[in-house]
Amino acid sequence: MIQRYQGQQTQWRLSFVSDSEKAMTLTPGDGPCAWTVHVGSSDELTPERLRRAAAKAVKTMKELGGKTGVLDAAPLLPILGPAAGAALTQGAELALHEAPSFATGTPKEPITLWLDGDCDGLDQALQETAQLTRSICLARDLVNCPANKLTPALMAEEMTREAEALGIQCQVLDEHQARTLGMEAFLTVGSSALHPPRLIVLRYRGGGDEDPICLVGKGVTCDTGGYCLKAASSMKGIKGDMAGAAAVWGAVLALAANHVPVNVTAVIPSVENRISPDSYIPGDVIGSMSGKTIEVGNTDAEGRLILADGVTYAIREEHAARIVDIATLTGAVVGMFGFTTAGYLSNNEGFSDAFQAAYHRSGEQYWPLPTFPEYRKMIESPLADLSNTSSDGCGTITAGLFIGAFAEDKPWIHIDIAGTAWVDSPRFEYQTKGATGAGVTTLYELCKGYAQEV
Ligand code: BES
Ligand code: ZN
Ligand code: ZN
Repeated sequence: MIQRYQGQQTQWRLSFVSDSEKAMTLTPGDGPCAWTVHVGSSDELTPERLRRAAAKAVKTMKELGGKTGVLDAAPLLPILGPAAGAALTQGAELALHEAPSFATGTPKEPITLWLDGDCDGLDQALQETAQLTRSICLARDLVNCPANKLTPALMAEEMTREAEALGIQCQVLDEHQARTLGMEAFLTVGSSALHPPRLIVLRYRGGGDEDPICLVGKGVTCDTGGYCLKAASSMKGIKGDMAGAAAVWGAVLALAANHVPVNVTAVIPSVENRISPDSYIPGDVIGSMSGKTIEVGNTDAEGRLILADGVTYAIREEHAARIVDIATLTGAVVGMFGFTTAGYLSNNEGFSDAFQAAYHRSGEQYWPLPTFPEYRKMIESPLADLSNTSSDGCGTITAGLFIGAFAEDKPWIHIDIAGTAWVDSPRFEYQTKGATGAGVTTLYELCKGYAQEV
């Protein structure tokens, strides 16, 4: 965590100033390691802009070999208040957080930063942001973890270890317990591998006795495609197919660490999608916890199968008041929005408005997708209640609507982060190569928006 500056000797001083002609450029200051970072005019100043500016500045410092630095927020605090300090520290920390290496040899020397400047409420804002940043980094680490070191059971262990340390109530269901609940869609995918599936449930109770918001995250620890095997060139990122799971875990950790007065339950169906002698194959018809039957059109459309049961579990067993599912679900969303923007759809205007307000606060980019009745027809099946593939394209929308068919009458949002969860090269300055931690801050803000007044 970035501490408050108390006169330590540092190699670098990065001062952030607004209302300059030059937007977000670095200019040398009066010493060899004193730089002034121009962040643009004060009427256009946003926390997101500052996250990017701080990230760019510390990456530059790092490239030039700097090991210690102070971020001077003083000129910006009168303009944006404590949010300026929070955004600068978050941008800097995220920019420096890299995927852990398994290479042998001497580890890199760490970089230490401090924040200079003061205003009312700064300590509290820095505390909250530090917890959020930590959760984003934990989510990134989990997604970066190779699949051979993160089976569903190992993911359950890692998630519950961090959650229990924050007083979150944890339950991990194995395949036998899932069988008792009738989670056939989840188990069908889950039995494609030697490593058995797990349903991970994390219950954070910061609110009163109201029913929880349930965050359902796709936890496919590796997605080979199953019998509809992916091409070798599409297999590089398959370990990252649990980024939805990491996002809901990170959000719940941050809510608990910050004692946000709200009830939230993370529901994480975790499986490997592989090939075994008894794996499911295209043409199979399977059941689900809801009772609905599903025709399997493609074994690589596994995410919606496990999420369907995750959503039914959230309604039946966790009494969800509202449901969000989040997943690296379709290649189609990457074609539409690229690596900077996630797509979402919803069955409820009020909930959707709350989500929009949440991503405006977090600074992450999302864009809504339509849910016209014609799209529902595309996932009809001649021999079952639903098909897990579309008969007529529109891959992202139809995948979402498939999951929505299990949401019953609950306000529900589906988020597809297949494009934003992973970057081979950073699209925003505060990203580093690999997992981005997509979704953590927006889900946190969404749940915080439902917090009780205290
Ligand atoms: N996990 C993938 C989606 C994905 C693609 C994530 C690219 C990240 C990057 C998902 O399970 C999948 O394979 N979806 C298929 C669905 C199709 C077979 C209907 C897809 O999008 O191609
Ligand atoms: Zn797949
Ligand atoms: Zn997948």
